[in-house]
Amino acid sequence: MGKVGVGLAVGCAAAACVIAAAVVGRRVRRRRTWRRAVVVLEELEQGCAAAVGRLRQVVDAMAVEMHAGLASEGGSKLKMLLTFVDSLPHGSEKGTYYALDLGGTNFRVLRVQLGGNSSAILEHDVEQKPIPQDLMTSTSEDLFDFIASSLKEFVEKEGDRELSSVKRRELGFTFSFPVKQTSVSSGILIKWTKGFSIENLVGKDVSECLEQAISKRGLDMRVAALVNDTVGTLALGHYHDEDTVAAVIIGTGTNACYLERADAIIKSQGWLTTSGGMVVNMEWGNFWSAHMPRTSYDVDLDADSPNPNDQGFEKMISGMYLGDIVRRVILRMSQESDVFGPVSSKLSVPFILRTPFMAAMHEDDSPDLREVARILNDVLEIPDVPLKVRKLVVNVCDVVTRRAARLAAAGIVGILKKIGRDGSGGITSARIKTGSPSKIRRTVVAIEGGLYTSYSMFREYLNEAMAEILGEEVSPHVILKVTEDGSGIGAALLAASNSSPSVDSVQLL
Ligand code: BGC
Repeated sequence: MGKVGVGLAVGCAAAACVIAAAVVGRRVRRRRTWRRAVVVLEELEQGCAAAVGRLRQVVDAMAVEMHAGLASEGGSKLKMLLTFVDSLPHGSEKGTYYALDLGGTNFRVLRVQLGGNSSAILEHDVEQKPIPQDLMTSTSEDLFDFIASSLKEFVEKEGDRELSSVKRRELGFTFSFPVKQTSVSSGILIKWTKGFSIENLVGKDVSECLEQAISKRGLDMRVAALVNDTVGTLALGHYHDEDTVAAVIIGTGTNACYLERADAIIKSQGWLTTSGGMVVNMEWGNFWSAHMPRTSYDVDLDADSPNPNDQGFEKMISGMYLGDIVRRVILRMSQESDVFGPVSSKLSVPFILRTPFMAAMHEDDSPDLREVARILNDVLEIPDVPLKVRKLVVNVCDVVTRRAARLAAAGIVGILKKIGRDGSGGITSARIKTGSPSKIRRTVVAIEGGLYTSYSMFREYLNEAMAEILGEEVSPHVILKVTEDGSGIGAALLAASNSSPSVDSVQLL
């Protein structure tokens, strides 16, 4: 081979080496960038781990905080609000009652006809309307004027049916925000949650504001019961099944209420109830415990929210927030690797990835994860995501939902622990002594809210965690019962049981 030939051969070899090095380099870079995305997922998994031991610590913390909140006003992050509901509807309620259910993105009006025996919700009509976004941050007058006119339209559709001859209609008002009740039918708004912010209503009596708007419209209607959505749900749950002792909502927001012994409500020793008990609205969305697995995404979400340091439990559990946690994780993955291509500006838009989108991605069972690709493309403007990256996104949804569901389960068991129905502390508390062998008491918890009713993975994880925490002896005796429309129908039931003057069974000593 001449000099030229040698030169050529060397040149070719060098070029081949450069190309090979470039290919290998690209592969290594791709692997490294993929690895970085996987590390983000692994760190999320570690940060969200909620093994049963940790959940038991959350159970204990919940029970301890419940005691503290009942002992003194401001004694805990759990407000443990009195509801003045000292007896739950039992079936003798009769007549036609209205309900107005306000607490999320929609509000509903209902007309419920009760037949006077326990199986007899004869009929109920419902109408649902979205709350216009601007009203959620406007003035109390605007909000209540809008609601009152919708209520009037609904009442007018009554035609010449049952109530036309009745002078005054009775209304159960479900207002699902923290309210300090002053009676069963009145109460003062403490603060807003779930994205509402109408400052001139904080500190005011919400029933009074509604009644003013109603009478401006010429409607003769009285708020007979002002209730939280959890309390309405408990009322309906108990109406159908007397073993129902608590109610939980896991929807846009989250909360729970339960039936407490009056003597355990130390902060209100002045109150007497004829039944010896009272429903307590826990406002558990504000629960906090250092045992809860918290990540940097939760810290950032809280700091960016309009209510930092507030509603910590709600921000880890409820529908308002889960999608946004997932968005934050995808944003971090996208910034730290190029698995999503260039970083989409949509990833920086708060709340753009709503929880129903997240649930749809999580539950996509198509072999090529078509729905995941569609949502990433349509909502987050991230096109052409490869299958293995779609799988990564499903994993992120799984981790965030599993933690939420497990924490919610721990919260529920915390309530059961407080009232002696979790089988702990010398199992006797959860058992009825009927000679031997003793029987464990059946305990029903009414449950509502889209996360539990419409997101099957969430529901499965919650049920699984309940069984894990309670153990196989006690868990079959604890039943979570979906109580559809409980917040609205339950409010109408409570309006019925509080509309007769003889029902005034809560008195000041
Ligand atoms: C509110 C509660 C309500 C819950 C569920 C929370 O944000 O503070 O009052 O029960 O959402 O709707």
